[in-house]
Amino acid sequence: MAKREPNLSGPGFPPAVPEESLNVPIRREEIAMVHSPQGLIAEQFRGLRNSIQAMNTDGASHTLVVTSALPGEGKTVSTLNLAVAMAEVPGLHVLVLDADLHNPSVEKFLGLPRRQGLSELLSGKLTIDQAVRGTSIEGVSILGAGTPPRNPSELLGSDRMKTVMNRLRQRFSYVLIDTPAALNVSDASLLGAMADGILLVVRMGSTARYHVQRTHNTLEALGGNVLGTCLIDANQPDISKEYS
Ligand SMILES: Nc1ncnc2c1ncn2[C@@H]1O[C@H](COP(=O)(O)OP(=O)(O)O)[C@@H](O)[C@H]1O
Ligand SMILES: [Mg+2]
Repeated sequence: MAKREPNLSGPGFPPAVPEESLNVPIRREEIAMVHSPQGLIAEQFRGLRNSIQAMNTDGASHTLVVTSALPGEGKTVSTLNLAVAMAEVPGLHVLVLDADLHNPSVEKFLGLPRRQGLSELLSGKLTIDQAVRGTSIEGVSILGAGTPPRNPSELLGSDRMKTVMNRLRQRFSYVLIDTPAALNVSDASLLGAMADGILLVVRMGSTARYHVQRTHNTLEALGGNVLGTCLIDANQPDISKEYS
């Protein structure tokens, strides 16, 4: 079979340097696990972590898609907080995978420069070792989105993506996959069907119940396993969790 062309748009980002981010402190206040580790929000992310671990009775590694109905509900912030909460548990190693190829923001929230990442990995230009970067939080690594591809859904829905997810699962205790809003594009549903579970982030007071219900139904109709919801109340600010 002919080798697939990368089909990446733009000049692209420089290659990732695995150690370059180890000493970059996380400054964004929304990452409550770093900025207010004793506060209520941090405690609630620990609760979410505990619920996920309680469901994981055999201690196996898991891939979890984090999505929401609409943009701006708090997916990326929740993914990062959950990752830090998980990494507090001795022995757990967590990867945050930025699979929001439309609006990647994991690196932005961590104050890191954009580098080659998932799109190059899926195009066969990088290996996993070349794409994964450590962070200033011990036990938390990231794999950035990389150069914006012209065909995000096609790349994310490919067999290669399944292979990448399986390989990452072998290396990390949890792979948390940040995605675009599920009602906007099919990417989260495609990834949700490949992953072990899905967390649905819901911003209370702004996202209509029928949007949440439709998202839940769509994710499950495509084969996804919605584990529960992570409720964000940006007014309080406060989060709580509900688990099915
Ligand atoms: N728990 C929270 N409390 C207050 N603001 C939040 C919270 N989570 C996210 N935000 C804010 O909401 C905005 C969108 O969050 P983000 O995680 O980027 O959403 P998404 O990834 O779903 O598009 C950001 O400006 C972020 O600071
Ligand atoms: Mg986001």
